[in-house]
Amino acid sequence: MEDKRPFWTSKYSFIITTIGSAVGLGNIWRFPYIMGQYGGAIFLAVYILLISTICFVPLMNELYIGKLTKKECVGAYEAISPKFKYLGALNPITGVLIAAFYFIVGGWIINYICKSFTCNQITDYGKYFTEYIQNPIYPCILTILFLFICIFFTARGVKKGIEAANKVLMPLLAVILIFLVIVSLNLPNANQGLEYMFKPDFSKLNSKMILAALGQAFFTLSIGMGALLTYGSYIKEDKSLVKSVYTIILSDTIFALLAGIMIFPAVFSFSMEPNSGAGLVFVTLPKIFSQVPFGNFISFAFFILLFCAALTSGISIVEGPCATLTERFNISRTKACVILFCLISVFAIPATLSFGVLENFKIFNKSIFDFLDFLTSNIMLPLNTLFLCLISGWYLKLNGHDVIKNRVLALFFNIGLKYIVPVALICLMFMGLN
Ligand code: PFF
Repeated sequence: MEDKRPFWTSKYSFIITTIGSAVGLGNIWRFPYIMGQYGGAIFLAVYILLISTICFVPLMNELYIGKLTKKECVGAYEAISPKFKYLGALNPITGVLIAAFYFIVGGWIINYICKSFTCNQITDYGKYFTEYIQNPIYPCILTILFLFICIFFTARGVKKGIEAANKVLMPLLAVILIFLVIVSLNLPNANQGLEYMFKPDFSKLNSKMILAALGQAFFTLSIGMGALLTYGSYIKEDKSLVKSVYTIILSDTIFALLAGIMIFPAVFSFSMEPNSGAGLVFVTLPKIFSQVPFGNFISFAFFILLFCAALTSGISIVEGPCATLTERFNISRTKACVILFCLISVFAIPATLSFGVLENFKIFNKSIFDFLDFLTSNIMLPLNTLFLCLISGWYLKLNGHDVIKNRVLALFFNIGLKYIVPVALICLMFMGLN
């Protein structure tokens, strides 16, 4: 069975695809708006502290368990002990549910790419966005289109699909991002945006913000739904993962920082609000694009950037469940992808419609879209990570000193796995429930 499993062609392929999974809407859409809501620089400081310390532990753990067992999620948990099999199954289920709401935003992005060259004809961007997402037809079609594109690359396989897409899309993403950062920094009063990002206001420090930063850090690193475990299982050589893990954390943080440097100077330059929430990218930015020279082209570049980021993450979201279906049921990738396409659509279409025709249909007082976001980001992702840390730390008794050369880091890993990360995750879930 093991010989039939695909492997990354090189360490570079593994790192770039894992960075591709990490860098997504979480960095370019979610990070700036959450940072805007929690007061800018102070949020950034806390975020960097958490992502470089606590997050190392579950990230390393998930990749390591994949590399160790060389199995998809259910098989990996089962290899540790058959009684954990069902906990493993929660991972691909989380993947399907995350895909359902993540791909809706992917569909919105496709619409904005198409609209880029005519966006200056729009008079009220807030109204345009609201009316668009309420439309019963186009958002559904574009969500399905985005899903199809992700599934297409996944179906082509680990080397020809996932690796190949990431090797093209990630450098393209970096080039566009740097270009847009330069444009933004050259706008009048750009320094006000930089000040907002880098000059901390300590009065805004509070526990809610710290937990929000932690939740954002976990989400952006793609921890907790088996995507990383699956990617880890495709590693062939038996080298330490520490350097790769830090490369992934560093790159992901640089992408998020650059996204902030691209967005905030522009927002301040046009005297807009940095805390406008999820609409920052779909309402505030298009408004700005309509007012800058070559705005159509810049808008196009920006939404292509967002598309590349969403696509490389989307591919990783699908890969976890796809590997589970192919390996557990011994079916081809194509068959697994067709099943996933249907399954994700079943959740994604009602969620897309929950902004319009299904807006009165509530689950626990939330629209279908908000419920899926809440269930996956606040409960399932932390829960999966909690289970895996507890299993590794307490059942498998994974010893940091066996996998990490640096003694201090190894000790931190051991304490983190058994105590710090589980406690942090429980706090995160409690906060999410309130
Ligand atoms: N890390 C992705 C982002 O920042 O957009 C989101 C994500 C991808 C979460 C894959 C979880 C996952 F397994």
